[in-house]
Amino acid sequence: MRSAAFFALLAATLPALTNAQAQTWAQCGGIGWTGATTCVSGSTCTELNDYYSQCIPGSNAPPPPPTSPPPTSAPTSPTTPTPPTTAPTGTPTPSANNPWTGYQVYLSPYYATEVQAAAAQISDATQSAKALSVAKIPTFTWFDSVAFIQKSTGQKQLVQIVVYDLPDRDCAALASNGEFSIANNGQANYNYYNYIDQLVAQIQKFPDVRVVAVIEPDSLANLVTNLNVQKCANAQTTYLNCVNYALKQLSAVGVYSYMDAGHAGWLGWPANLTPAAQLFSQVYKNAGSSPFIKGLATNVANYNALSAATPDPITQGDANYDELHYINALAPVLKQQGFPATFIVDQGRSGQQNLRQQWGDWCNVKGAGFGTRPTTNTGSSLIDSIVWVKPGGECDGTSNSSSPRFDSHCGLSDAAQPAPEAGTWFQAYFETLVSKANPPL
Ligand SMILES: *[C@@H]1O[C@H](CO)[C@@H](O)[C@H](O)[C@H]1NC(C)=O
Repeated sequence: MRSAAFFALLAATLPALTNAQAQTWAQCGGIGWTGATTCVSGSTCTELNDYYSQCIPGSNAPPPPPTSPPPTSAPTSPTTPTPPTTAPTGTPTPSANNPWTGYQVYLSPYYATEVQAAAAQISDATQSAKALSVAKIPTFTWFDSVAFIQKSTGQKQLVQIVVYDLPDRDCAALASNGEFSIANNGQANYNYYNYIDQLVAQIQKFPDVRVVAVIEPDSLANLVTNLNVQKCANAQTTYLNCVNYALKQLSAVGVYSYMDAGHAGWLGWPANLTPAAQLFSQVYKNAGSSPFIKGLATNVANYNALSAATPDPITQGDANYDELHYINALAPVLKQQGFPATFIVDQGRSGQQNLRQQWGDWCNVKGAGFGTRPTTNTGSSLIDSIVWVKPGGECDGTSNSSSPRFDSHCGLSDAAQPAPEAGTWFQAYFETLVSKANPPL
């Protein structure tokens, strides 16, 4: 039995431990982390990914972002994957309408919890109330690891998801490296064992829920412009195979898909439009030209205006200086190639313009504000909905140059710093998004 002296000793050490507690929203764990692993009173150390645990306000920290239990039946022979034997049952009928029409958009409980906790940290009552109102604005849920859709409550619910787990993901940058690698059986993991098949199985359980998916941000755009990057060249075949599998399987269970198409400052350059249209049309046709493959998503997690009052100086040289110009230029080329695509456009962080030093700057851009609220009233028959894809307040990437996931864009002078790891809560950034929201919250 431990003696009273032991407890006295323990008590004497406690103040020292207390001093080493991490502040609210600070890092408190993760691979390579040597700092404090406990949090100040009022917040709880919560593991968000292998690289990052964060002190989240409240004694009941929000549930971690959707992650899965580890696979229970690992394939014994991973090099010879068995294709799925159970084809999805029934043939869903695509709606000829805009997928959002007649449906209520499901609010992500995870994001709502993050926002509520963040609003509680803001002392100014007016700002705090504005911040809280963000919890009622639907954003997409990023399934960036194996994950399950939660049962939604009402009927006619529309759930917005981002499919984001390709092997060797984010091939031209570092901040969002994924869990699967091509070298380590990534394609079979993605298709069969740990991602798409499981996602599809979950979706099939809720036939009354309509699902709209953004497919793999940056992946196909990287194949248009970044094949000079070795990691992208190596990933080309795998990306195409995996996206093909994802589109076919999701279409078979009636999910409406929008492939990510970068933004005006990426594929919107005149020289990139035709190669982009050729690639997207080919991918569409290879996936069987399903009417569930609605089209393309643009400006995901970016900052461009849908329709800029005047061109931002950084866009000089590109006639397609905003998302509407880009979409209007791309759509006819897609149609020529046999893909009658419609679009969705992320405006979640596009409230403020003319912030960046270069158009390619994407990481936690300083001074950004929440933008136009999600609406199907888009002013363009080519655009099905204005959406918020990137959950505002979740970080784009760490500014810590020693982190294995550091990307130099996150250290630029127009990137807000200090910034925590990608996907984790960035309180200071969220507060700016609230105060600079346009239209105001
Ligand atoms: C930056 O990252 C390194 C490596 O993960 C870590 O040891 C260090 O404590 C981090 N610094 C800060 C300020 O978080």
